[in-house]
Amino acid sequence: MNFSKQLIYWYLQNERDLPWRKTKNPYFIWLSEIMLQQTRVNQGLSYYVTFTKEFPTVFDLANASESKVLKLWQGLGYYSRARNLHFSAKFIANELNGIFPNSYSDIKKLKGVGDYTASAIASICFNEDAAVVDGNVYRVLARYFGIDTAINSSKGIKEFKELAQTLIDTSQPGTHNQAIMDFGALHCKPQNPLCETCPLNESCIALKEKTIKALPVKEKKVKVKKRFFNYVVFISDDNKTQFSERKGKGIWQGLFQFPLIETEKSINMDVLETHAEFVDLVKLPIEVSSFNEKEIIHKLSHQHLYTKFWIVKVDALKENTIPWSHIENYPTPILIANFLKNFNPLNGYF
Ligand code: ADE
Repeated sequence: MNFSKQLIYWYLQNERDLPWRKTKNPYFIWLSEIMLQQTRVNQGLSYYVTFTKEFPTVFDLANASESKVLKLWQGLGYYSRARNLHFSAKFIANELNGIFPNSYSDIKKLKGVGDYTASAIASICFNEDAAVVDGNVYRVLARYFGIDTAINSSKGIKEFKELAQTLIDTSQPGTHNQAIMDFGALHCKPQNPLCETCPLNESCIALKEKTIKALPVKEKKVKVKKRFFNYVVFISDDNKTQFSERKGKGIWQGLFQFPLIETEKSINMDVLETHAEFVDLVKLPIEVSSFNEKEIIHKLSHQHLYTKFWIVKVDALKENTIPWSHIENYPTPILIANFLKNFNPLNGYF
């Protein structure tokens, strides 16, 4: 028996008795699939019962007030799901005469519907061979095939979707999809999977290689911080600028830079000229102009630096001055080196 046949065989004996399994009405399947996102089946069950009772057709949902829909959704979380559901119900009722779209590509056009939901509805209701990939499917495939590509990387998302698609039983895609999801939820569980009684245990790579606990792999996503840098690029009458070593422990320690004013958000010239640090730094500006209106975004692994260079002409400078003609001798971050490739007052910028 191949992979899909074994799963379906298991499913026929172990399938969960769930109310949405008794229908192929796409409106009901859609409701259930939206409700079950980021939600356990047990938690979603009572909401499904309430919604189908209160709104037995897509027209009932479309005609309800948003506050009523949200009230009934209360406690299920991720409220944008309810708003999108209501929006799409109105679209189906008013623009599609209440007829639910009947292909993966048309279902996916509905607001709030992504690859997973479109695949689930298209396969369960319309027999389209679109493979679902949810958390359960990632786990089953990663273990059975011994795949350690991170499931939350773009490479992983593509690789698992393609693999899932090659495995689907095209004669019963809806059953195949629900079988693999139930198998993941009940048998190939995140913790303490039931490997001893698993129908796939003879060919499961992770079991053979003892990597069940390590799979699937999830990449830890570092939160990227946005910072807003304003470099003050002085030009004095005698062609000097302020350029000094970056102190402290942070990025670019020891490299040279123009005076830096970091702000909470992007600022324009009016805000800059009244900013306390700028007023303190620049005593008698002759002229202030911006080198780049739109920020240059310099991407580091943990932070994105939204950077503006401000050109400030002054009569004379006192502290930390260097002649513009020497600037290339100093080590600087690439961000500043790139700026210097495009800006040289000695070549008559002003
Ligand atoms: N989780 C979400 N939808 C499901 C479905 N149709 N079958 C099994 N598990 C699910």
